[in-house]
Amino acid sequence: MRTEIVSAVRAGQTSSGIQADDPSQTDRTAVVRAESSEGCAKAIKLLREGEVVALPTETVYGLAADALSVSAVAKIFEAKERPRFDPLIVHLPSRKALAEIAIVESPIASQLIEKFWPGPLTIIFRKCDVVPDIVTAGLETVAVRMSAHPVFREIVSALNRPLAAPSANRFGRVSPTTGQHVLDELDGRIPLIVDGGATEHGIESTIVRIVDDVIEVLRRGPISEGMLQPFGEVHERTSASVIKAPGQLPTHYAPNTRLALVDDLKNFSTPNGKRVGALFFRSPGGVGEPGPRSATVATGALREVKNFAAVRHLSESGNLREAAANLFRMLRELDVENLDLILAERVPGEGIGAAINDRLERASNRPAD
Ligand code: TXA
Ligand code: MG
Repeated sequence: MRTEIVSAVRAGQTSSGIQADDPSQTDRTAVVRAESSEGCAKAIKLLREGEVVALPTETVYGLAADALSVSAVAKIFEAKERPRFDPLIVHLPSRKALAEIAIVESPIASQLIEKFWPGPLTIIFRKCDVVPDIVTAGLETVAVRMSAHPVFREIVSALNRPLAAPSANRFGRVSPTTGQHVLDELDGRIPLIVDGGATEHGIESTIVRIVDDVIEVLRRGPISEGMLQPFGEVHERTSASVIKAPGQLPTHYAPNTRLALVDDLKNFSTPNGKRVGALFFRSPGGVGEPGPRSATVATGALREVKNFAAVRHLSESGNLREAAANLFRMLRELDVENLDLILAERVPGEGIGAAINDRLERASNRPAD
């Protein structure tokens, strides 16, 4: 089954691969550019008809469907091959819409909403009956956020319905940060991808719940612990023993190639005869290094490049936000280099760096096969 990439100009035509009168036909995946209003209209139409559509958010691409329709949400699980016990995040058309699906019990939650929505923060609430069990995997709670991405907002506002949207990858794989990544993951399994270019943050939203006035972080993300601290005591609860949801399991977010995590890659020499790829945090000769040292470290960088079969730097200048935005793309790039091993370097643990290290840690926990 091959997929055609459709330009914005052709987006409205049936040659795009989607028959307008047969939305269930999913043997071809159309890709429409987000700037094309026809593309957004097509997404809205499909979502209204109970279909799934991949949409950009400010974190990663999501695979969206009407959160209140059991049959639409079931298609998300089918396309992703996601186990039914893994609950989904519901994305709101407006803050006001929260009251229709969840019960806000904590004033801290209200403050977090005020400060961070729309944005990359997911909050766990007690759910209302209207939210189907398939969305929450039978839990009494529901994970909710409001995306800040203009294309996502346009589409969810037009629908005026909450959208369930997990990351648009097959289960257990690295989240997609471009339309092409979604195509690589779900080609032929979904009718439409709205391509809005590379996502801003590059890693999934921070997930929190409020328990007894304590903010518990269930998944680290772009909203760091430091950003949450003004609103209350913050506890990291990211261990698998606490949450029985696969996003929090130690082996999630894995590339196919085995990955090992090290503190410092600079002095590492590759084993003979092995194709080893390197994922550095920053370029040793990059911007921000003091002048006199640059020449030496640049030579060191050359040597590193020679030793490794493939090399990526998450951020030349050592910027953690840029590193997060590049992380999943670079893991995908290294994953297709036919390597025996990817060696990745831990990044500084402050701010979003903790969330990056968390993803790398999980990627490194994949059992050898
Ligand atoms: O940035 C994001 O959050 C992206 C974009 C598309 O919004 N979505 C995303 O969804 O990462 P997903 O399904 O890949 O990850 C959602 C995580 C899962 O690990 C799931 O187990 C957890 O949220 N989750 C969902 N509902 C939950 C609940 N009621 N309690 C605890 N964890 C929950
Ligand atoms: Mg995911």
